[in-house]
Amino acid sequence: MEFEESLAEGATLDDVEVFIRAAIEGERNRVATLANISAILNQYLSRINWVGFYLVLPGRDHLVLGPFQGLVACTRIPIGQGVVGKAVEQAKTLVVANVLEFPGHIACDSRSRSEIVVPIRSGGAVVAALDVDAPERDRFHTPETVLVERVAGLLGQNWNLMTDS
Ligand code: SME
Repeated sequence: MEFEESLAEGATLDDVEVFIRAAIEGERNRVATLANISAILNQYLSRINWVGFYLVLPGRDHLVLGPFQGLVACTRIPIGQGVVGKAVEQAKTLVVANVLEFPGHIACDSRSRSEIVVPIRSGGAVVAALDVDAPERDRFHTPETVLVERVAGLLGQNWNLMTDS
């Protein structure tokens, strides 16, 4: 399948990157920026049911829910558990074709069947994870991985420039 079919509204990967960069450059507040980025990804990434962030809490053993689009989600995920917790523990992208076969998968939305989680790194440490879930199996391939990793990379580069105020 062509990647453009997997994006909504006739968008291209470059279009989405432009919107993401504008969201980062246009606002310094971290929550506001992450909220708009989850909305951009939800608007342009087709056939998904959840997209959002889990944030690392310094010195704690679990992640806390950040801005997202989708159904009500699990608020805390232990590092090392579920797809999100494993991606953060291993500091690497995880693409799961069928979450029902992933040991310890945490089902927040029972419609989810496939998932991609990309850690966000800043200053050598994982500071958050970007999680996208789809209701169909095997939804995420190389083009989606490229997009989500690009977004995570841009956020990581700008993480310490973003503020709470
Ligand atoms: N499925 C994820 C949990 C997060 S959500 O589905 C929003 C996991 O197993 O880590």
